[in-house]
Amino acid sequence: MSGNGTSIAEGSLVLLHFDLRRQWLLRVDRSRQFHTHKGYINLGDLIGKPYGSQVKSSLDQIFWALKPTTHDLIMHTARRTQIMYPKDIGLIILKLALTAGSKVLEIGTGSGAMTVAAAMAVKPTGHIHTYEARKEFAEIAERNLKRASLLEFVTIHNADASAGIDGAGFDAAVIDVGDPWPIIPHIHKALAGGAPLVSFSPTINQVEKTTEAFTQGGFANVHTLECFIREIRADTGKTRPATMMVGHTGYMTFAQKILRSE
Ligand SMILES: C[S@@+](CC[C@H](N)C(=O)[O-])C[C@H]1O[C@@H](n2cnc3c(N)ncnc32)[C@H](O)[C@@H]1O
Repeated sequence: MSGNGTSIAEGSLVLLHFDLRRQWLLRVDRSRQFHTHKGYINLGDLIGKPYGSQVKSSLDQIFWALKPTTHDLIMHTARRTQIMYPKDIGLIILKLALTAGSKVLEIGTGSGAMTVAAAMAVKPTGHIHTYEARKEFAEIAERNLKRASLLEFVTIHNADASAGIDGAGFDAAVIDVGDPWPIIPHIHKALAGGAPLVSFSPTINQVEKTTEAFTQGGFANVHTLECFIREIRADTGKTRPATMMVGHTGYMTFAQKILRSE
């Protein structure tokens, strides 16, 4: 993505915001008009403006050219699989201490939502090695990473991780597959001593099985968390929680590799 600073350039990603329900993640292309029911916008008009600028549509409606956050990149990924949501990803990034320079192993790339967030956290000196068994999903993830200008920080292995994992000394691992248990011994071998990992499980019986596999497979500090967030609709005199909320995405079982005498 060009325009990583404060000004918008040809090729920059922009979050075009009208209101909370009407906002779009767009790549700036001087030859393109973006049409909405509030009129169209010549995207070339954004070039050279600082992020945060106002832009008017052909119907004289005001839009704001905002700088996309990692949350926006995740929520606008093209999806062919279930994705991890920012509420879970945020916690994972903290618990796994993903920072610039981290070398991360991911099993189950899917659409690449978690991969985008992890790459954002570890760039410019870190790297994500992510495994995806299905070619069509590996291709979607690649497109999502390219759109976010993060592909250079990621290697996508289009392979079944239960057959083995390349490399060693990983600082952390993220697992999001339905059947992680045959892969856990490979992950143990690939991680550095003490390194944290997480396995994301939609169902509680998977949590029990993962806890057993981690405890017996050379990991300590095994614990499971679930995360909820509730949106607050703030409006003077009538502020209250939103009526609807996401009730369940998945459970996160965390652990850290211990070194056993073989
Ligand atoms: C739920 S999706 C992962 C979604 C991803 N965390 C995201 O945020 O977009 C699970 C993915 O794991 C892949 N998968 C399942 N078993 C696998 C294995 N043994 N090796 C590699 N990929 C696997 C599936 O094909 C699927 O695309």
